[in-house]
Amino acid sequence: MRKPIIAANWKMHKTVKEALDFVEKFKALVVKNNEVDIILCVPYTVLASVAQSLSGSTVNLGAQNMYHQDKGAFTGEIAPAMLLEFETRYVIIGHSERREIFGETDELIREKVNKALQLGITPILCVGETSEEREGGFTEAKCRKQVESALKGLDKSLAAQIIIAYEPIWAIGTGKTASSNDAEETIAYIRRLVAGIFDETTAQTIRIQYGGSVKSDNIKELMTKPNIDGALVGGASLDAESFAKIVNFKE
Ligand code: 13P
Repeated sequence: MRKPIIAANWKMHKTVKEALDFVEKFKALVVKNNEVDIILCVPYTVLASVAQSLSGSTVNLGAQNMYHQDKGAFTGEIAPAMLLEFETRYVIIGHSERREIFGETDELIREKVNKALQLGITPILCVGETSEEREGGFTEAKCRKQVESALKGLDKSLAAQIIIAYEPIWAIGTGKTASSNDAEETIAYIRRLVAGIFDETTAQTIRIQYGGSVKSDNIKELMTKPNIDGALVGGASLDAESFAKIVNFKE
């Protein structure tokens, strides 16, 4: 059985004070929840303070990006060792906003996934189609290209640790969620892709999340699907009560 994993992606939100207010409230609301792996993927500038505030709790810390080099002349970038300094065990890689706004390529994303795994940081690899691609019937082709390109050549022993987030771009921040059946269908397809690249055991081990307008009123239905192992949550993760309701979906 795969343990559900629900992650907040705060994107470019929250000052240190706002982040600490959130964490204080949130910890108390999820203290009894040991059925779900909970992750907060926060901006770099609040990593240190949030790490301190989360210390001793079951809530895990994540970042939203990293560079794939150890150090050097890469102005504005953050190295994996800098994340590890704050016990940051997860990192979102290849979010559609990084791909679309900042021009990240499949090749760069492969380098980042590789680097994160080598250093013991769990990558949350994001894939998903635009509305044009969905309407044109290219959802699977797009996910296939992104998944194969990010995972091919990866050491099989490391691959089982990866988390994939299927985030249809048209569902992000729009209030339009993929139906649970559509999300299940694409996520099942992604799992078959992973079986093809590695093997069935790896495919059955890795956790695949759905992301895109997840809220407390649609999480239960999404989580009834056998292949959906959790969620990557944007807007609804910014408020402690709203995100706690999502991670406590079993209550
Ligand atoms: P929303 O939950 O705001 O749609 O964002 C989803 C997302 O991009 C998470 O990475």
